[in-house]
Amino acid sequence: MKSSASKYQETAKVIWNKPESRSYYRIGLACSSVYENARPGQFVTLHLPGNLTPLLRRPFSIHRLIKENGHIVGMEILYKVVGGFTEKLTRATAGDPVNLLGPIGKGFTVSKNFKKVALVGGGIGIAPLIFLTDALKESGVRLSNSIACLGGRTSDDILCKTIFKSFDITVCTTTDDGSEGEQALVTRPLEKWITSNNPDMIYACGPMPMLRAVADIANKNKLPCEISIETIMACGLGACLGCAVNKNETTGKYQHACIDGPVFNAKNINL
Ligand SMILES: Cc1cc2nc3c(=O)[nH]c(=O)nc-3n(C[C@H](O)[C@H](O)[C@H](O)COP(=O)(O)OP(=O)(O)OC[C@H]3O[C@@H](n4cnc5c(N)ncnc54)[C@H](O)[C@@H]3O)c2cc1C
Ligand code: FES
Repeated sequence: MKSSASKYQETAKVIWNKPESRSYYRIGLACSSVYENARPGQFVTLHLPGNLTPLLRRPFSIHRLIKENGHIVGMEILYKVVGGFTEKLTRATAGDPVNLLGPIGKGFTVSKNFKKVALVGGGIGIAPLIFLTDALKESGVRLSNSIACLGGRTSDDILCKTIFKSFDITVCTTTDDGSEGEQALVTRPLEKWITSNNPDMIYACGPMPMLRAVADIANKNKLPCEISIETIMACGLGACLGCAVNKNETTGKYQHACIDGPVFNAKNINL
């Protein structure tokens, strides 16, 4: 069923669903060709047919598109098991139906003119950065000049290190407990790297305090920065006003993370 000019609702079939680490899973969903136009940073909302709880659809970033013979046939979603929906999702097996609505929202800016970029991901915020890295590579950005700073509470939260390395990008990891990489906040390797590098863009996705810190660093160093906000969303369609984000302007106080974002220019919002 077509639900608007750009978003499609469909019953997608699970291709596979497997644990990534203790608290994280990766699921492959077959999807329609509408995702040929999907942009990194956009998201989908999911519902498990036949389940009354949770009632509301749940938002998830497009982690990666699955291509066959140059055509999109599916997508990967990387998810953290945190509650009712994500627990039920772990039990889905190949062939099970999942109601899929997307692609939704505004994604990251990708330009073939970018010479180097910095990616900053905290925990499950790493999820949209793989689709982003795929798109940067496709547009010809030299990833060997770029950096991916991945942070988490423990080593369990450091996701996709091997995938990032396969792009030849420099990977720096940090954890709160020192169980993987440097025992520090993920902003530390970013700050160190930008003392001798001038990226065309800093991209970040993760918890709010991390986004605030990344935006401050970008601002101090006069560097462009886009952040993806994973706020709690009820409708995901601009109807419930549940995902308001403070604008950093004198007029028009709020924007909605679901339709105006989830990716914003860090300068344009009050974090
Ligand atoms: C644009 C967007 C993209 C997202 N992408 C991903 C993704 O790629 N992978 C992924 O695992 N998750 C992602 N999330 C978060 C995901 O939507 C929630 O984890 C999911 O809805 C939880 O559903 P649940 O029923 O399992 O847990 P619930 O029972 O709904 O929640 C369990 C706990 O998690 C908290 N919680 C729920 N949603 C969020 C949130 N957005 N931020 C912080 N805390 C939250 C609740 O307050 C509660 O304490 C994204 C959210 C947004 C808005
Ligand atoms: S989630 Fe309802 S308006 Fe954004």
